[in-house]
Amino acid sequence: MDCTCDYILPTQPNWEQHYENCRVKWNTRENSECQQNNDGTLPLRNAHLLKLDCDILYHMGLDTQTHNLRDMFGDVKFVCVGGTKYRMKETAKYMAQILDIQCDFTNIVKQAHRFAMYKVGPILCLSHGMGVPSMTIALEELLKILYYAKAKDPIIFRLGTSGGIGVDPGTVVISSSGLSDTLEPCYKLAILGRERKFPCDFDKRLNQELMSVAVDEDFKTVIGVTLCANNFYRGEARTDGAFCDYSDADKQEFLQKLVQLGVTNMEMESTAFAAFTREAGVRSALVCVTFLDRLLGDQVTPDKEVLAEWQQRPAKIVGNYILKYYKK
Ligand code: URA
Repeated sequence: MDCTCDYILPTQPNWEQHYENCRVKWNTRENSECQQNNDGTLPLRNAHLLKLDCDILYHMGLDTQTHNLRDMFGDVKFVCVGGTKYRMKETAKYMAQILDIQCDFTNIVKQAHRFAMYKVGPILCLSHGMGVPSMTIALEELLKILYYAKAKDPIIFRLGTSGGIGVDPGTVVISSSGLSDTLEPCYKLAILGRERKFPCDFDKRLNQELMSVAVDEDFKTVIGVTLCANNFYRGEARTDGAFCDYSDADKQEFLQKLVQLGVTNMEMESTAFAAFTREAGVRSALVCVTFLDRLLGDQVTPDKEVLAEWQQRPAKIVGNYILKYYKK
């Protein structure tokens, strides 16, 4: 069985030998064929799409008849996704600056009034809104774009914000895996009325590579498990929402349980992001800055300037990584 890894960084001692979507790993692990064509393009994962004369990517305002997706997106190698339109435009500006790429920062999906998408050379930056339902709509349409465009070996990064657990605010967490809101290591989705569970581990080798370009930054980066909550307030064990029917002691007991499970941060998209990219055979990583230590409080108290600087940290790590690829 041939290795299909397109190594971004050369292997260092003690690193994983392969990416998770490499044929060598995939075929020993999953029940299905490796989700990668030999040329690195994505195979079709849904045969129903072949019945469509025109596939309308409704939330992007794009379709396969009016738009030549191959011309528009065929050269995409890296995708950065994140919650807000503002942050993804800032990310696009940052990537343009470090890679010295001219860009007019046109929002390609503006006409759909839903998300924002900017293309900086081979880097696509896309906002996805808050929470799993919004994120998965953006992600599924993005995956179809990458499929129709025949993009080769794309890597998707989610650059996010999160609540930390036992780490100093401003620390960046690279997620080893997601954890569901019922503390199971999977993404749960009801399909045709039946609950299905999907694995939600992230790519170890990609995380090791990202960590290697994070260590020289003047902020701390750690690797840990990420809780995927379904609600910002009670879903993340806060006591400052509109409702709260548990005590401070109950909350602390839950947070300590998370500590025992290796959880270092919580946000609202991780399990689905890991599961869908993995199902598509696309490498991905989740890089989130923490705004507070949830063991010490609930409210996000740092001022605007501090939060603005912290929010750039995931983009700095991913930018370092992308730069290394192009310098190579
Ligand atoms: N995002 C979250 O989901 N939780 C936080 O505490 C901060 C950002």
